[in-house]
Amino acid sequence: MGYQEAYDKLEKNEQLHVLKYYDDLSGYEKEALIAQIENTDLEVLRQCRHKEELNPRGKITPIEVMQLPEIESRREEYTRIGLEAIKAGKVGAVLLAGGMGTRLGSDAPKGVYNIGLSKDVFIFQRLVENLLDVVRQAEAWIPLYVMTSDKNHEATTAFFEEKGYFGYNPDYVTFFMQDMAPASDYNGKVYMEEKWKMSTSPNGNGGWFLSMMKWGVVDKIRETGVEWLNVFAVDNVLQRIADPCFVGATIDTGSAVGAKVVRKNAPDEKVGAICLEDGRPSIVEYYEMTEELMSATDAQGEPAYNFGVILNYLFREKDLEEIVARKLPLHIVEKKIPYLDDNGMTVKPENPNGYKFEQLVLDMIHELDSCLPYEVVRNHEFAPIKNKTGIDSVESARELCRENGIEL
Ligand code: UTP
Repeated sequence: MGYQEAYDKLEKNEQLHVLKYYDDLSGYEKEALIAQIENTDLEVLRQCRHKEELNPRGKITPIEVMQLPEIESRREEYTRIGLEAIKAGKVGAVLLAGGMGTRLGSDAPKGVYNIGLSKDVFIFQRLVENLLDVVRQAEAWIPLYVMTSDKNHEATTAFFEEKGYFGYNPDYVTFFMQDMAPASDYNGKVYMEEKWKMSTSPNGNGGWFLSMMKWGVVDKIRETGVEWLNVFAVDNVLQRIADPCFVGATIDTGSAVGAKVVRKNAPDEKVGAICLEDGRPSIVEYYEMTEELMSATDAQGEPAYNFGVILNYLFREKDLEEIVARKLPLHIVEKKIPYLDDNGMTVKPENPNGYKFEQLVLDMIHELDSCLPYEVVRNHEFAPIKNKTGIDSVESARELCRENGIEL
């Protein structure tokens, strides 16, 4: 793309301020800015003008959840089916680690965070060790795909190298980077991070499969015969990955996707609740829970929306290309975005000052015909780390690790 084309693209999207310092830039900086303009989707920016109308919801009704007693009664059979699939190389794991982890307040990738007290216990290490349990049980390596972003790719790959992949076989680990999206003020004008660079942030965890396609990882998956992808978040240090019983249950019930869920600890707990929306599987976010939904009960008198998702899903690979081709909904979230002020000085705001534009993995569930919500024991499998202290924090996760006999 040349200067004129970049100018036209900016003008069309009402972003000409991006060229404010262009004449002062070095040749290299000019090239970098033009390349960024070429590669950035600026059309999303105008969406913030009608953000309230973006994602209208359908009719929410309860979904049937496979609960613990049923799982226990069939554990052996499901585990056998799951192990068979894993041994046959049909199951891969996708670690979503492209987020910024801003709430944790560290500039390093979240997985590099050390939750140990008497010894090192890095978040990445906990996850790899959990996966290694299944590798040993199945006596087969499980391909692990790690999504990073422009902001943390180098640091993440270097950390895995430095730590010897925490005992994992590097031949089975593939890194790929997600795309970035522009970050704007409340009027949809993109912020500048440098005189030669627009502010961008990772485009949400919903972009993972498109990015895998872009990086050629999907071709590799197809070559090796992987049929199921267990997608999981970086921050739940207790989660079971490629859990044979969960894999077996999803396969045996003929479900298009499996979703691990936990019993909510309060009707208004800040987790998305699994449900049906217009008859299709979906997730209602905690901030969308009305009084009516919170007090609704099922035939057994139990709360009807009592199971929260924990970002651990098992997708069937063959469905994914079609899902992402349909374009997932866009979420516009208020965030703190560092920017250059009118004098060209960097400002790091203390309060939210604009929008980031994201697609979310949970929206992929609604694109599928069937979903198996699969209950797991909350205190054994759900220890998310979002903050340093308080709810969903390093402190609460340490407590849960101790409860599960994990030495820290
Ligand atoms: P969160 O929604 O908790 O976001 O991500 P975050 O960026 O890690 O943390 P905050 O909100 O800035 O404090 C849930 C999971 O999705 C991944 C994260 O790495 C985490 O595993 N994620 C999030 C991505 O991979 N890419 C993104 O663009 C956003």
